[in-house]
Amino acid sequence: MKFDVLTLFPEMFEQLNMSIIGRAREKKLIEVNLVNIRDFSKDKHKKVDDTPYGGGAGMVMRPDVVYEAYKSINKENAKVIYMSPQGKKLNQKKVEELAKQEHIIILCGHYEGIDQRVIDKIVDEEISIGDYVLTGGELPAMVLIDAVSRYSDGVIAKESREEESFANNMLEYPQYTRPEIFEGVKVPEVLLSGHHKNIDKWREEEALKITKRKRPDILNT
Ligand SMILES: C[S@@+](CC[C@H](N)C(=O)[O-])C[C@H]1O[C@@H](n2cnc3c(N)ncnc32)[C@H](O)[C@@H]1O
Repeated sequence: MKFDVLTLFPEMFEQLNMSIIGRAREKKLIEVNLVNIRDFSKDKHKKVDDTPYGGGAGMVMRPDVVYEAYKSINKENAKVIYMSPQGKKLNQKKVEELAKQEHIIILCGHYEGIDQRVIDKIVDEEISIGDYVLTGGELPAMVLIDAVSRYSDGVIAKESREEESFANNMLEYPQYTRPEIFEGVKVPEVLLSGHHKNIDKWREEEALKITKRKRPDILNT
């Protein structure tokens, strides 16, 4: 899976050098290429934004600079996603769908956003990470890259994905590890039994209970 990210703040993506995603990049299981939109400004001060036509607060990213940055990318088999609070809300189903793509180009806005003309010209889909407004699309882009990368072969064990929350319209059962007794509370006996059939049954029942209690809305969706 390959991601090209169009951003004004590539340094924010340092996070993607760490932990599971960092290792996946090192092993070339996924590729994340950061394109600094500012490098494509023809202005001598490298300006990338301007005041909005019609007046109003804040600055708008210029369409010509964003378009030049976009044109620099090899777009073979790519889907272009604009991270936007106005987009379709990201959920696990959408993540699974995006994981089938070979190549995703992610456009990150900043300030008041991006001139609509370049959005209309290059974007295939707008995706939001929730009904709130952030200062930029960089954190949402990292959320999307992290969630989608987990579906690339070798990044995490396939079994982890199959049992975790949102798989089969359920939340995951509770997890326990050592010590066997913590602050006087013992690990559920069945998990120490070594009886796999009983463990599976207990986990299924717990997952159902938890889903009914915390997220009844996802059951049977
Ligand atoms: C301050 S926001 C612009 C909001 C825009 N003026 C509006 O009201 O719809 C700046 C940038 O942050 C990103 N952004 C903010 N909230 C987001 C969210 N919930 N999901 C995805 N991207 C978001 C987008 O890329 C957006 O262009």
